[in-house]
Amino acid sequence: MSLLSEELRQKILAYVPRYPRKQAVTLPALHLVHDALRCVPRQAIEEIAELLDLHPAEVHDTMSFYGFFRDENNPLGQTRLWVCRSLACMLRGGEELLAYLSDKLGIAPGQTTADGKISLEFAECLGGCDGAPCVLVNDEHRMNVTLDRADQLLDELRR
Ligand code: FES
Repeated sequence: MSLLSEELRQKILAYVPRYPRKQAVTLPALHLVHDALRCVPRQAIEEIAELLDLHPAEVHDTMSFYGFFRDENNPLGQTRLWVCRSLACMLRGGEELLAYLSDKLGIAPGQTTADGKISLEFAECLGGCDGAPCVLVNDEHRMNVTLDRADQLLDELRR
């Protein structure tokens, strides 16, 4: 039985005409699968490879090159919370914010809470230096998330 839904397979195939070679669709395909399944399981790697006429090792190479993708042993929670630790944010308390969130959630960066709600990550510059410390909630920037606003953010994410 296929792990990838027909809809997901069609979305992946829709990328093929946009690129000179099918192999170039590997990265968009990984993103589509990761968004849908919150990880890229081994079976999905094989199915992507089959769709794109590649060897599964080629898909796995692309996936493992980026630290972005999770496998089935460490799937993402509902919300992926990135905390910037680059210079501007670090100077405005980004590292303390990350440590505080890690402590409150009871997880280290790279892990997910037991209820599956929040995955915590550290990030390099998120492009929101003027609003340091900056975090990313899934794809949404949040600016000026100082330590005194951390609990408010966690309450929102836990709802
Ligand atoms: S240094 Fe944190 S967003 Fe740029």
